[in-house]
Amino acid sequence: MSEILIRGRVLSFLREPVAGDDLAACRYEEDGAVFIKRGKIVAAGDFSTVSAVAGDAPVTDHRPHLVLPGFIDAHAHFPQMQIIASYGAELLDWLNDYTFPEETKFSDAQHARRIARLFLDEMIRHGTTTVAAYCSVHMASAEAFFEESHSRDMLNIAGKVMMDRNAPAGLIDTPQSGYEDSKALIAQWHGKGRQLYAITPRFAITSSPEQMEMAQALAAEHPDCHVQSHLSENHAEIRWAEQLYPQAKDYTDVYARYGLLGRKSLFGHCIHLSDREADAMSETGSVAVFCPTSNLFLGSGLFDYQRYRKRERPLHVAVATDVGGGTNYSMLRTLDEGYKVIALQGEKLNPLASFWQMTRGNAEALSIAERAGTLDAGTDADIVVLDAWATPTMRTRMETIDTLSEELFLLQTLGDDRAVREVYIAGRAAKLGD
Ligand code: GUN
Ligand code: ZN
Repeated sequence: MSEILIRGRVLSFLREPVAGDDLAACRYEEDGAVFIKRGKIVAAGDFSTVSAVAGDAPVTDHRPHLVLPGFIDAHAHFPQMQIIASYGAELLDWLNDYTFPEETKFSDAQHARRIARLFLDEMIRHGTTTVAAYCSVHMASAEAFFEESHSRDMLNIAGKVMMDRNAPAGLIDTPQSGYEDSKALIAQWHGKGRQLYAITPRFAITSSPEQMEMAQALAAEHPDCHVQSHLSENHAEIRWAEQLYPQAKDYTDVYARYGLLGRKSLFGHCIHLSDREADAMSETGSVAVFCPTSNLFLGSGLFDYQRYRKRERPLHVAVATDVGGGTNYSMLRTLDEGYKVIALQGEKLNPLASFWQMTRGNAEALSIAERAGTLDAGTDADIVVLDAWATPTMRTRMETIDTLSEELFLLQTLGDDRAVREVYIAGRAAKLGD
């Protein structure tokens, strides 16, 4: 079926809401519709107008549920599915004790393909239609991920991790092989269908200066690729990174010295940045990725979202699950924890801003808003349908809710995969059972 008219309460964002009552930042139709043709949105708006355009296209009626752009997760690790919820460690021990041993399994292409399949099933079940994913160091893991993503026609960003030191033997490449494997994957996958490649030096601790030079060369040779890495997550990590790169002014400067800051550079965590580092991120347009469930779970610290957004030189910010340091695949659960992290610092994130962040905000941060994160005509039809009555707890609370903002806050605070009624990937219904 190449045409479909989706009917429901249609919500999308035109820009970042400046306040909790800034409904002018939203486009909301109580009786709305989205007309999709060959995977792209032709029109979205009120039902009578859009249905006139749609002619006799088949209708799927989702009323009274909300129809939004699919969620975007700006940072997650697909090879960590089987270590999510591992007890008792801070970052560096967690990497050594759980993560690195687990990731060595991904030299096996069959295992990688199976987990890639389960990972994307889980993303979709939770309403996420785009993820910026880390693979393992093995080329086979990235091939498995891209094959699985491409076969579902998902817009995903991914890369083979580059790491050539401070990790087990089965989990390291070399500066040369990391360069060549990344280059081959870019040639094979970047721009194939909806796939995008991210050059992925894991972090300064596991990349030698020689490997950072190779990452720099890749980024210079492929400026249309993203770069993704980790930065300033935990104090022991920061100390070690600064010891390994003594010439750098600070941790952020390590990446700056290798030309890795920029508008398409995504840095997970960024919890403990100094003002100088925040300025360097801001000047280069680099993206700080807030991973609340992970930051809480690993005891890494409180990301100061409002400080970064409201400072004189604001940062681009995205929000992400960081599975499996993060503890949930759901962007609703993630923003719920994000709200609490922000509250602990005396600030609030209002529900409109929160839903902007997980849709258009993340799309803009990831430079993909021309294709996803809005319901604009001409963009790809990646859509989530949300049910605010999904559980008894939610149903009872809904009886006393009057406004869209309250409903969104309920969905964020109490919702999870049960609140995801349907997901469309490039116009095709894709939600799976439990
Ligand atoms: N820093 C380097 N690698 C990782 C990782 O896999 N997860 C998290 N949370 N931090 C990292
Ligand atoms: Zn991470």
